[in-house]
Amino acid sequence: MNIDSLPYRTIWPAEDGVAVEIIDQTRLPHEFLTVRLENLHDAAIAIKNMLVRGAPLIGATAAYGVALAMSADASGTALEEACATLAATRPTAINLRWALTRMQALLAPLPPEQRAHAAWQEAAMLCDEDVAANRAIGQHGLMLIQGMLERKGGPVNILTHCNAGWLATVDWGTALAPIYAAFDAGIPVHVWVDETRPRNQGASLTAWELRQHGVPHTVIADNTGGHLMQHGMVDMAIVGTDRTTACGDVCNKIGTYLKALAAADNGIPFYVALPSPTIDWTLDDGIREIPIEERDARELTHIQGRAENGDLVTVRLTPHGSPAANYAFDVTPARLVTGLITERGICKASRDGLSKLFPEHAK
Ligand code: MRU
Repeated sequence: MNIDSLPYRTIWPAEDGVAVEIIDQTRLPHEFLTVRLENLHDAAIAIKNMLVRGAPLIGATAAYGVALAMSADASGTALEEACATLAATRPTAINLRWALTRMQALLAPLPPEQRAHAAWQEAAMLCDEDVAANRAIGQHGLMLIQGMLERKGGPVNILTHCNAGWLATVDWGTALAPIYAAFDAGIPVHVWVDETRPRNQGASLTAWELRQHGVPHTVIADNTGGHLMQHGMVDMAIVGTDRTTACGDVCNKIGTYLKALAAADNGIPFYVALPSPTIDWTLDDGIREIPIEERDARELTHIQGRAENGDLVTVRLTPHGSPAANYAFDVTPARLVTGLITERGICKASRDGLSKLFPEHAK
């Protein structure tokens, strides 16, 4: 991904080889700032406070968090403590647990003196794999957009929710990867960007990165999608996911379920793009089994933006004393999902569909 024409990933080892650098996503779209993560604590705070966010990037940051921890202390106890600290940062995105399990499985059997080197190598490999998977998702999803263009002509209007773009991954994104691939192939696309209250990942992050890439888009209030669908202004929806069960139930940013309901009511295809580390093969029933993160109510009661004088300011939206509840994710049942776009191709959101693409996980 290019930012002001310079190629970037969202996470990379610092040139001095002792730290990791990230983009501070809490400052976007107003300021582009990179931050150094020097140790395990920095990595854990970056995930918890959402300097980095998005399921695949959370996993990548956790992997580098383990590498930072091993550079300081490569004992077995330190490895266990690092994984426990990072696992406790956010509960919903399964990529976090997946990355930590992978790091622990590799490092625990090694002698301590080999762990730091191996951890840095593995974290880098995990990032490269994320980029390759997302690029493949882009190519598979491109076919869907191409098909839509052939059926109805352009531009193809695609609705997306939250940020499942390159900022949510190491590069390319999941839901936005097909859109970038289509745009780069010359297909006329236009993206409806849900603002995605309360943290506004759509308005702040998706709009920013689409603009960096030059993709035509319009930011809409979260409740607008249903109206647009009723009036033929949405051809398809593509969203990301933080955890998809073995049966195809999709957990994603709060509000995704309502968009899927509206899409079903209007006969609009609703796709979910995901790399395979986002599949939780241990779960069937997303609604009952996936832990839903509840975040600080302040994210709902207050909002950050740039004032007319250029200052970044936070203002209160709600009356003092009104309680607020901040559920960060919801679950869209598999029956409302038209298809899952994975790095291995597109399948039905069902155990059968997923098992055909990933036979090594079939029960
Ligand atoms: O709370 P966030 O910003 O981490 O939530 C991100 C999402 O819900 C994304 O849609 C999901 O992680 C998929 S990212 C490719």
